[in-house]
Amino acid sequence: GRLDDTGSINLDEVRIDEHDFTMIDKIIVIGCGTASYAGLVAQYAIEHWVRIPVEVELAHEFRYRDPILTPRTLVVAISQSGETMDTLMALRHAREQGSKVLAICNTQGASIPREADAVLYTHAGPEVAVASTKAFVAQITATYVLGLYLAQLKGTVFRDEIRQTLDSLKAMPAKIQWVLDTQPDRVQRAAEQLQDAQSFLFLGRHVGYPVALEGALKLKEIAYTFTEGFAAGELKHGPIALVDEGEPVVFIVPPARGRNTLHAKAISGIEEVKARGAYIIAVAEENDKDVERYADMIFWRPECPTLMSPLVDIVPLQLFAMDMARQKGYDVDKPRNLAKSVTVE
Ligand code: G6P
Repeated sequence: GRLDDTGSINLDEVRIDEHDFTMIDKIIVIGCGTASYAGLVAQYAIEHWVRIPVEVELAHEFRYRDPILTPRTLVVAISQSGETMDTLMALRHAREQGSKVLAICNTQGASIPREADAVLYTHAGPEVAVASTKAFVAQITATYVLGLYLAQLKGTVFRDEIRQTLDSLKAMPAKIQWVLDTQPDRVQRAAEQLQDAQSFLFLGRHVGYPVALEGALKLKEIAYTFTEGFAAGELKHGPIALVDEGEPVVFIVPPARGRNTLHAKAISGIEEVKARGAYIIAVAEENDKDVERYADMIFWRPECPTLMSPLVDIVPLQLFAMDMARQKGYDVDKPRNLAKSVTVE
């Protein structure tokens, strides 16, 4: 519904005029929890396509650091519920400072979209479970549509390349379906083997880094397992001290076809922890022989462009958290101590 007959991106729910959009010279994405990780994924794609700086900030930190906001700054507030108080207060601060705010929201008519200058609804349908899942995928998709729209307006990407990227985006539901059809047995087996693990490390690079953070968050939220996500490059700067015999480490491995250096570095990180006895789960592209050599368990991703990979890679990690929680007899929809929407600061 976002494409017009000529294949151009058409955001008719956005009420900021084209001129203001063209003048934007910086984007700040704000959100909490899962929404903030969707923002981190967006940072890689939007900077790449639009060639303007994108900052990502937790909404509750945002206004207290006196951020530099001008009329040419676009603040993108991401919120599934549209009622998260931290994000709402950050939105108000941005508007008071004269910046435009675009909300990416899943709930029609909620406070955040009502107070924003523009809205991009994710239309993912009601999300019932406390831990966010489909909203994450939909939020990333919405930020990509926004990024491509800005790239189109600013002329930073050729139109045929925009069309190709949109085609890749349209191919993603089938790839996610492939994961849902073929990978659950492996995921379940991994959960059975690791249900007694005391802690997990999740590591990724580039867009795999926010996927690692989000995968770790799912496991904390519903399986109550102490889990940390890190940028894989940080491993040698500290987290490797935590790796001991049998420690489960989850690696998001980028495709070798993309930036090959990143793939090679991910493999060398896997080798490092393997040498210390870690149990390795890799999320990797089908037929990745290097990964096959080292990983104890692999959740396969079908071939897709690097920037699209978060949309599939998070799915087996969501399933993994669900299976871990079920093995332990926890309610996967209503985890302890958490609320679907946090309406206090
Ligand atoms: C709560 C939920 C999280 C969610 C976060 C942001 O903490 O438990 O799952 O990611 O709020 O919610 P929002 O509705 O603003 O996306």
